[in-house]
Formats: sequence, C-alpha cells, structure tokens
Amino acid sequence: MRVLVVGGGGREHALVRALARSPQRPEVLCAPGNAGIAADARLLDVGAGDVDALVAAARDEAVDLVVVGPEVPLVAGLADALGEAGVRTFGPNAAAARLEGSKAFAKEIMAAAGVPTAAARQVETVDDGLAAVTGYPTVLKADGLAAGKGVVIAEDEEAARGALEDMLVARRFGETSVLVEEFLEGEELSVLALCDGERAVPMAPAQDYKRIFDGDAGPNTGGMGSYSPVPAVDDDRAREICRTVHQPVLDELARRGTPFHGVLYAGLMMTADGPKVLEFNVRFGDPETQAILPRLEVDLLPLLEAAGVPGGLALGRFHRRVLSSRTVRRWSW
Ligand code: AMP
Ligand code: GLY
Repeated sequence: MRVLVVGGGGREHALVRALARSPQRPEVLCAPGNAGIAADARLLDVGAGDVDALVAAARDEAVDLVVVGPEVPLVAGLADALGEAGVRTFGPNAAAARLEGSKAFAKEIMAAAGVPTAAARQVETVDDGLAAVTGYPTVLKADGLAAGKGVVIAEDEEAARGALEDMLVARRFGETSVLVEEFLEGEELSVLALCDGERAVPMAPAQDYKRIFDGDAGPNTGGMGSYSPVPAVDDDRAREICRTVHQPVLDELARRGTPFHGVLYAGLMMTADGPKVLEFNVRFGDPETQAILPRLEVDLLPLLEAAGVPGGLALGRFHRRVLSSRTVRRWSW
C-alpha cells in the first residue's frame, strides 16, 4: 500500500507519522514535505498547489491513496482531478470545499441546515459595511481564503472603517465582499469529524493558541500551538456537537448533490447560549492535528480510506474509538 500526503508543514508530518505506524505498513510519500518529514517519508519534489503535477506524480508512483493536507489545492479541485484520474483521495471535492473557500457559502449552508452560528451580513462597500454593524466590537471577515488572517475584530468605528477599506478598497485579500458578523464571547475550540458523505464521526477536540502576543492579545494568527484533550468538552459533549453541527451540514451538502468526504473542522465558540460555529475548514487543522493524531488509539489509515466510501465509516465498530483517545503526556511515538 502506498500513501501520498500532500503538503509540507507540521500537520503533514503528524499525518505521515500516524500513517507510518499503521499495522498495514504502508509506504508513505510526501509532496513536497520538508526536511523533518524526510526522516519519515520519501519526498516528491512537487508543490502542494500544483494540481496537474500532483495527479501526474500520484499516477507515476502508483499511489493507492492521496491524503491532502492544505485547503488551497482542495478548493482548486485536487480531489476532483485525482478522482477523474482514478486515484483514491482523502479530502472533499471543490464543490464541498467551498465550505472553507467562501465564508458566505458556509453561512448559507448553516442557515439551511439549522446550525447555530453568529448573525452576519454580506456587504460589498465600506458604507454598507459600517451600516451593517450592530454594535462594537464587531467582526469583519474577507470572504475567501486568507490563511486565518482575513478576520478583524474591530473595537470601534474607526477600526471598522480601516479594516473595511483594507479589504474592499485596497483588496488586501483579493476579495470583493466582506461578512460583518456579530461578536461572540466564550471559550473557543475545534471539533474535527471524519466524514464519508453520509456520516460524521467526531475526533478528540483541540484548542490552539490564536492571538499573536502573550495574554491572548494582538491580532489572530493561523494558530501557533495546540493541545488536546480540552477540559471544557468531554466525549459526550463532542458527540453532541457532531450531531448538531457536523451531521446537519453533511446532510445539507448531500441533499444538494455535493456530499462531503474528508475531515470537517468546526471552529466553535462555546457561548452562554451553547456552541456556535465561527468557521468551517475542510481539512485537518494546523496545529490541532499535531495534538490530536498522537492520541488516536485506532489505525488512521482505514479511517481515511473509509471516508471515501459512502457509509464507509459506519462499517465495523472501530469508529467508536476515534473519539475516546488516550492521553499522551510526552511526544514519544
Ligand atoms: P475564522 O477564520 O472565521 O475562524 O476567524 C478567525 C478567528 O477570529 C477565530 O478563530 C476567532 O478567534 C475569531 N472570530 C471569528 N469570528 C468571530 C466572532 N463572530 N466572534 C468572536 N471572534 C470571532
Ligand atoms: N488552526 C486553525 C486552522 O487550521 O485553520
């Protein structure tokens, strides 16, 4: 069995290591990987964003399963292209990956699926944006992919105007619309669920360190470190979140003819009114994956394979142990 992991960061290293310890003893390749990953996988000199070259490499190397780390190639249609070439892939097609690629689309799906989230309005001008603010602080989100940096929490009108001009006039993120969103308060955490198009199976929750400075201050980063387990969410709570957040989204996407296969990452705020979704990602979190996968008690490889088959995760009983993971006190694989 030959598995190709696409990407070159800490998340992909965690995936490579989790796959390498499978009892199935797969040969693990990584494109492009990095100097650390080279110790655990054979590297291919192909960029993670080069869809055509990745398809060619997967064919040339007779890869049995491609596991896609980052969002950019998924939104660009890597899973579709690999599927057309007859290569099995872990990760959603471009239509389902819009959940991360467009925050406005994610809001539309959540509204249709009845999933709790912050109230939001989509605007295209600075004046409309300011008019849509219902109170400060307010949250401004550029619509497209921005590597976790396209979100500004504005404390007053001056800050909101500056951020809206940056996004809509200077087009800092290349987008033409912004979501003006209600500010939510509470503890923030992530619940990732493996999805086979029909069924969502939760993994152990994780939290990451978002703000750039000590004391949770300063602008958001994409996450600079993470931990799991999360004391605030036990297994029952995580199952409940999966039932009320991931599963309805999966059902709605299936109903629209674009079933979601892969891992659906829900970024959540635990508000006084219950968990509300901040964002969806259509891939493993970075750095959450580095905290979650070492805790997994079951073999990751058959789980990733099962996610490609409608109903695949319902087969067997192994999925029951995906959530109840061991506590790893030291990094000692
Ligand atoms: P996002 O990319 O949408 O997850 O936003 C990045 C970060 O901004 C989140 O991880 C939160 O820390 C923060 N954030 C996003 N939306 C909100 C909100 N509605 N209320 C408070 N904080 C938010
Ligand atoms: N750590 C946040 C993310 O992966 O998007």
